[in-house]
Amino acid sequence: MKAGLFSSGIIGTGSFVPAQIITNQDLEKIVDTTSEWIVARTGIHQRRIADINQAASDLSTIAAKRALESAGLEADELDLIIVATITPDMHFPSTACIVQNNIGAAKAAAFDLEAACSGFLYALNVANQFIAAGFYKNILVIGAECLSRITNWKDRRTCILFGDGAGAAVVSRVDDGYGFLSQYLGADGSGGSSLNMKAGGSRLPASLETVEKELHYVSMDGSEVFKFAVRIMTSAAEQAIKAAGIKKEEIDFLVPHQANIRIIDGAAKRLNISLDKIYVNLHKYGNMSAASIPVALDEAVRSEKIKKGDYVCMVGFGGGLTWASNVIKWAVRAK
Ligand code: ACO
Repeated sequence: MKAGLFSSGIIGTGSFVPAQIITNQDLEKIVDTTSEWIVARTGIHQRRIADINQAASDLSTIAAKRALESAGLEADELDLIIVATITPDMHFPSTACIVQNNIGAAKAAAFDLEAACSGFLYALNVANQFIAAGFYKNILVIGAECLSRITNWKDRRTCILFGDGAGAAVVSRVDDGYGFLSQYLGADGSGGSSLNMKAGGSRLPASLETVEKELHYVSMDGSEVFKFAVRIMTSAAEQAIKAAGIKKEEIDFLVPHQANIRIIDGAAKRLNISLDKIYVNLHKYGNMSAASIPVALDEAVRSEKIKKGDYVCMVGFGGGLTWASNVIKWAVRAK
């Protein structure tokens, strides 16, 4: 199925996680928690934390170079760079512009896109539209986060969840019959207050008071987000699979957002997809928001769990509230 003039798909992936590891045992020393609680409630064992000198653009730049190499493309062949992030280097210029300069993609337009943990899939689906319409030929899509910078390390309800990292994908024209078969985006702004960072924008600019009140950190109603996540992961995946014109049983591989193993298990059960068809790496990295899906995708491709011709479904949810999914018939062999 071809939704536009051209078939569009992913021709290369790359990722990067910082070297520093924070284990559950490390967290036991700074907040009132236990590794057993964290593993039982989330499945997370450890997470990666960016060095103090590393910002989202630095992680993005390494992931971008790896994705370009696997696609066999030079940076100056890129038409557009989209970076999905809620932890940009700064409000402006965009992290995408910083990456454009870092990799020397002089002919590429560049912008950031914000849809929290759904950001990479939002950006991927936007890139698909540009390629399918014939407007652009090669687009670099990145999901990158330094969540450690907006994590309250004194709050045991949130600090156990997050990690830093970046993943990238090159979206280009592919042979007919391959590439994006469907895509789906959704949002419910009425649920925005269950997951947000209250200060630092135009409503509550940074001030001594906002810092003292600890308003520059992720604030979350965990159980509300949990209920929403299980429901929406299932229905978003179903929407994309139906729109692709295939049956659930035909899905070869599911790459879900890596927030909590219980959310993934719940969705897998409702979708009736066996766990061996689902990529999980949250035990190593925690929830990297917009970076979770592209890092998981890259690892699945490089370990040849995803092969040419496979039907791959990606699905995610996040702050906004937002959700997104797609189905791709994988177009290339792993390099
Ligand atoms: N260690 C020990 N106890 C804890 C911890 C901890 N780290 N955190 C919370 N608790 C306690 C609570 O205080 C509570 O105690 P109480 O009953 O005495 O009040 C008890 O454990 C149960 O807390 P719940 O919040 O009900 O625990 P739950 O089973 O819901 O798990 C969790 C919490 C892991 C956060 C879960 O709700 C979750 O994963 N939610 C979804 C989060 C998510 O996916 N966010 C995604 C997006 S992030 C983004 O967009 C940046």
